[in-house]
Amino acid sequence: MEPNTASSPEWHRTGGRSAARSAAVRPVSSTATFNRAATSFGPCHFDLSATVLAAAAALRTFTRTARARRCCASGAELPAVRRRETGAALLAAEVAAAAGEATAATPSAASDTEGGGAAWRRFPTDFVWGVATAAFQIEGAVAEDGRGPSIWDTFSHVKGNIYEDANADVACDHYHRYEEDLQLVKQLGAKAYRFSISWSRVLPTGVVADGVNEQGLAFYEQICRGCLARGVEPVATLYHWDLPEALEAPEQQPARAGRPAAGQLSAAELGRRGGWLKRSTVGHFGRFAQLCFERLGRYVKTWCSINEPWTQCILGYCFGSHAPGRNVKPGEEPYLAAHHMLLAHAKAQEWGRSIAHSSPKMAGEGEMSDVTEQNLGRESMALEAPEGVQIDPKTLMRIFIRRLWALLKRVGVRRGASAALAGDELSLLELAMVLNTEWPEAQEPENPEDQAAVERHKVFNLDWFARPLYDGDYPPLMRSRVGERLPRFTEAEQKSLKGSNDFFALNCYSARYICEDTAWRKWQNTAATLRILPYIADVPLQKLKAALASNKTDEGSTGEEVPVGGPAQARGLPATSWITDAGYETAVPLDAELTATGWPVAHYGLARLLLDLQRHYAPRGGIVVTEAGAAFDDDRRGAAGRRQAAYLRGQSVALRRAMAEGADVRGYFWWTLMDNFEWSFGYSKHFGLYALDVDLTRWPRAEGAEAFGRLAARQALAPEVTLEEFTRCLDRPDGKKARVVGVERGLRVGERNTVAVWHIYSSYTFKHAYF
Ligand code: FCB
Repeated sequence: MEPNTASSPEWHRTGGRSAARSAAVRPVSSTATFNRAATSFGPCHFDLSATVLAAAAALRTFTRTARARRCCASGAELPAVRRRETGAALLAAEVAAAAGEATAATPSAASDTEGGGAAWRRFPTDFVWGVATAAFQIEGAVAEDGRGPSIWDTFSHVKGNIYEDANADVACDHYHRYEEDLQLVKQLGAKAYRFSISWSRVLPTGVVADGVNEQGLAFYEQICRGCLARGVEPVATLYHWDLPEALEAPEQQPARAGRPAAGQLSAAELGRRGGWLKRSTVGHFGRFAQLCFERLGRYVKTWCSINEPWTQCILGYCFGSHAPGRNVKPGEEPYLAAHHMLLAHAKAQEWGRSIAHSSPKMAGEGEMSDVTEQNLGRESMALEAPEGVQIDPKTLMRIFIRRLWALLKRVGVRRGASAALAGDELSLLELAMVLNTEWPEAQEPENPEDQAAVERHKVFNLDWFARPLYDGDYPPLMRSRVGERLPRFTEAEQKSLKGSNDFFALNCYSARYICEDTAWRKWQNTAATLRILPYIADVPLQKLKAALASNKTDEGSTGEEVPVGGPAQARGLPATSWITDAGYETAVPLDAELTATGWPVAHYGLARLLLDLQRHYAPRGGIVVTEAGAAFDDDRRGAAGRRQAAYLRGQSVALRRAMAEGADVRGYFWWTLMDNFEWSFGYSKHFGLYALDVDLTRWPRAEGAEAFGRLAARQALAPEVTLEEFTRCLDRPDGKKARVVGVERGLRVGERNTVAVWHIYSSYTFKHAYF
């Protein structure tokens, strides 16, 4: 067999995907059952007609009144929390009833068919289980059909930036295999598919005025149609980190017809340089959003504007370990980039709402037949039943009513039906910025310094973006710590930001212990880490210190020393940065189970975070977990799939519990459909429900994929989940008191990619702690 080295043809063909890593061995458990179960659907039994739509309007009024009555009965207990499905009292009764049930017998498969067994197990019938991907991580075909380069193309081709110097030139080759991949989404049983649109595939220079690449748009149109044809809801993200390179540094663009060659750029083109540091990018993004809404809005109702601005601003402009690889002014640039991303989101929303108001027939005059075909077809498909399975009439009716209402909203609105018909939920599209955070848990819960550090964590991670979206301005604590380095919004901007999130889109992968940022706490935590975690103990400390002192990585695969993250990283970190502004220290519990990325498995964190968000933001449109998941290493016995299944079980219990406590959660998207280019980790981290062989053949991680499919099909927790598990899932694993913990820093020393982040971070913290 050809050795998979950087010089082998195989290596280049796969963009650096290592056979040893990604050609993980197929698990022994057969995938045949999974595939059969997932694909053998029978014909649909209902055809929705316009007559029935009218009946649904009456039904809607009835259910609204009933819901309002329930809220009145129970809402007083938790006024800030919007109860969506049951009041507290009702839920308590359900749980009590379920307790009897749980001890009496394990819910049977039959009772699951009847809607998932006990009430505490069940998710609302309209709860959406989906999977997520991002364009740059899966598409490949980076120079095909008119796509322009993005900042990630540039960044990933700089030696030393990506683990094993991999790139995404081919990635999963999704651009050519999207039909197959959409079929995988359907086979999983996912109700929705969140994908992202590559800006530079649609607009090669990022600017509408320079010309639209119709082939690029057609590709995304195919994705949407492919989803709808399979009964899967398409959810589109406008921007998942792949800024057109032309907006970052236009002078690096090759000359093309009608444009001046490098070195002869117009002042306007040169003026675009600077990407998210430039105000002009806001306008360009707005136009791009408008174009996507106009051209794809007929298929897509739920949109995400910008994915994880925090990650881009901190990894891209503070540590420099993500594109565009800057750490020149980590005390200024992250704030400026974030400011522009927020304004870009608001601009997109302005376009979205203006389209919604000015053009109720968004699909276009005379295109009603298309809408009917797409939507009616899709809603009907949702009523398909697995072959040979008897569904009781109650369940069928519930599904029917839900889909009917969805249809009423979509088709009714598109027909220009009055707002009264769709009530306050009327909108042609809903848009949200996708925010990410780990759950910050005070390392020592009783310690006021740790509590204050938790507060700073919240403010400098999630609230940084969420407060402007919900209240129109940055959190006061952030202003007081950052001062004038934090840009200001004008009054008009504040107005456009406030209320611009139609739902709360959350990405959450883990929880961390947070403590005050002092040398003593750093020392305690670091010492604990070095002593106890074997992979940290393995790291030769001298080498680490030398690397930190010079801000270099350890040796690259070629044997030469290379700076991490491109030239900017070699310059070190100035004294003023987002890190010092935020001023907290993160740590992981020593006994925590870690995923392959070193992130602790901490389901309680997801539950607590959801409740915290509900309390602080009570988001209109509810919360959608737009990404969650975990990477695990494969082995011959299918360990990764098994651990995914266990992870999903923990996550689903956390979700359901948070919902029972009042969090208005409406959907959960697993990251990700299939293993892909995991940014600076290259192809080394496997988050996929499907794995990829080195020849790009997809195969399911059977146990993970099956667990996902069962959740989506049952809309209920697995029968094995006990009431005790459900009741205790909010608890911190160590009871109340934290044990000594290991800090996050240095966890991945020895891997050049993430070391980029942690070396810079550590160089700062280590210097303070030791030197
Ligand atoms: C999220 C990113 C996604 C993927 C997962 C693991 O932060 O949005 O693209 O990298 O992490």
